[in-house]
Amino acid sequence: MGSISIAALALLVPLFLSLHQTTCSAVGAGDDAARNLSSCLTSHGVTTFSLPSSPTYAALLNSSIRNLRFALPGVGKPAAVVLPSSKHGLRAAVLCARAAALAVRVRSGGHSYEGLSYTTENRVPFAVIDLAGLSRVRVDGGSATAWAEAGATLGELYHAVGTSSRTLAFPAGSCSTIGLGGIVSGGGFGLLSRKHGLAADNVLDAVLIDPSGNILTRDTMGDDVFWAIRGGGGGSWGVVYAWKLRLVPVPDTITVFTASRTGPVELVAGLVHRWQFVGPNLPDDFYLSVYLPTGGGSSPDSNVSVSFTGQVLGPKRRAMAALRRSFPELGLAASELAETSWLDATAQFAGLATAADLPDRRLGSKQYSKGKSDYVRSPIPLHTMAGIVRYLATGPPEGGCVILDPYGGAMARVGSGATPFPHRAGTLYGVQYQVYWDEDAGEAAPVGWLRSLHSFMAPHVSRAPRGAYVNYLDLDLGVNDWTVAAGGSSEAAVARARASWGAAYFGDNFDRLVRAKTAVDPGNVFNNAQSIPPLVNV
Ligand SMILES: Cc1cc2nc3c(=O)[nH]c(=O)nc-3n(C[C@H](O)[C@H](O)[C@H](O)COP(=O)(O)OP(=O)(O)OC[C@H]3O[C@@H](n4cnc5c(N)ncnc54)[C@H](O)[C@@H]3O)c2cc1C
Ligand SMILES: *[C@@H]1O[C@H](CO)[C@@H](O)[C@H](O)[C@H]1NC(C)=O
Ligand SMILES: *[C@@H]1O[C@H](CO)[C@@H](O)[C@H](O)[C@H]1NC(C)=O
Ligand SMILES: *[C@@H]1O[C@H](CO)[C@@H](O)[C@H](O)[C@H]1NC(C)=O
Repeated sequence: MGSISIAALALLVPLFLSLHQTTCSAVGAGDDAARNLSSCLTSHGVTTFSLPSSPTYAALLNSSIRNLRFALPGVGKPAAVVLPSSKHGLRAAVLCARAAALAVRVRSGGHSYEGLSYTTENRVPFAVIDLAGLSRVRVDGGSATAWAEAGATLGELYHAVGTSSRTLAFPAGSCSTIGLGGIVSGGGFGLLSRKHGLAADNVLDAVLIDPSGNILTRDTMGDDVFWAIRGGGGGSWGVVYAWKLRLVPVPDTITVFTASRTGPVELVAGLVHRWQFVGPNLPDDFYLSVYLPTGGGSSPDSNVSVSFTGQVLGPKRRAMAALRRSFPELGLAASELAETSWLDATAQFAGLATAADLPDRRLGSKQYSKGKSDYVRSPIPLHTMAGIVRYLATGPPEGGCVILDPYGGAMARVGSGATPFPHRAGTLYGVQYQVYWDEDAGEAAPVGWLRSLHSFMAPHVSRAPRGAYVNYLDLDLGVNDWTVAAGGSSEAAVARARASWGAAYFGDNFDRLVRAKTAVDPGNVFNNAQSIPPLVNV
């Protein structure tokens, strides 16, 4: 691999200066394991790791905690954080953690909505293997492909791709500090997905380290496993060291906009209602999503607001003409649209000042938050939409939002079993619900409101099963039974998972995921609260 993106590692290296102080710490069960891990890693030439007694430990653990709910003191902390800088170091980290009888949690960008990359729900001693030092991206413009280490962030990938050519791009999410390890494993939806599908739909090959330390590629991991790692969710299969990605063509000038509208509930509900017929049916070059903030409903007739985020793979003239024709109600003005490059658009949608900021992992926001998701398969009637907009107005002011992401286009052309991600033809749009709060406010009120909103939405969204997106992880959907080791590997464990989060995230694809899991990790080494259980004792 080349070394285009070593900025992250350079930032983290100074943290390790005093790491060997650990050997004189007090002795406990976790300390024994940590000492064992420490000598194993050192004997394999891995020196970048940190134990709880080290002064570098808290900052390293903290570095990729994006949801502050999981930085609170009551959350169990790892016996070690290992930061490998090569494929062999990564392999050693897996084998040494196992030899020391530590559970393994793998972290790339740390954006897991439920903190699953750096916590354990069953309170066993564990090690975090953090891929922040494995973030090199090598672009091959000639073949329009890239090899990217899984610890690279979307910002690092976009920067490497967009600076290599103004007309190459990659379809994935909008937040620049999301890690490729997590987002590609769970699918990866973004502003190019109606044109080019999910990130996972554009994976050509991968390097996966299995629980025994075997280094597998597409040719050697087997079809079920190569299928499972492209949408079956991170943390179940092994550690993805790198992805080979198909890059996609974009015009050298594209059009972007954010159009905000404020008015009475009926006006906003009317726009959103109408959008349901427009967003999923526009030509593939168009992405138009809806952002509805919560709160703002001090009195029943207060105004509310909505904003529409747009990206069009073409010049402003074409964008205006098509949107005026298909969505005249929006009343889009030419002054609201801007032409730019795809690279600059990714920086803008990530909330960054310039494209040069894309690779900077420190720019990610940290907040207390909880998310949920849904899918909509038939348009919500106008009067119901007005009820939803009114309900949102009762939510936490400045503290939450609902985002509607248009599907259709390439999303609908991929078969529902072609990857584990089942929400394809027939899905009009995805719904993401988010609430945020301050440390002082606490989570009870916003999370309670979020759950009530989710119940309120039940009649209006997909049913039997009610769908959800695995990258918007939600432990309310159910969790593995931690009273049995690693969540279990029995028919009962499989049935429990299938009936709750398994059906919601993966629909009919769940059973093939169980087969892949049983093939690659029968011992359930890579587990978490919602990992796929293997089925071994039949
Ligand atoms: C602010 C924000 C914006 C988002 N926007 C989008 C969006 O636009 N589109 C979208 O699709 N999603 C979006 N997401 C969701 C995001 O895709 C998921 O949270 C994703 O899992 C994050 O990946 P990560 O590597 O940053 O997370 P991590 O927390 O590091 O990992 C997530 C899961 O994957 C596992 N994992 C991580 N690395 C590896 C690896 N190398 N090998 C195997 N397993 C691994 C972890 O163990 C964990 O279970 C967003 C999330 C946030 C917080
Ligand atoms: C961890 O992060 C939080 C929030 O960003 C911060 O307040 C705290 O000081 C950090 N702790 C360490 C040890 O870096
Ligand atoms: C620690 O390391 C030794 C040798 O590498 C190994 O035999 C032993 O089982 C390890 N595990 C624990 C939990 O002590
Ligand atoms: C509500 O929005 C409308 C525009 O749709 C505006 O004319 C009106 O003044 C606003 N009312 C208030 C109270 O802000």
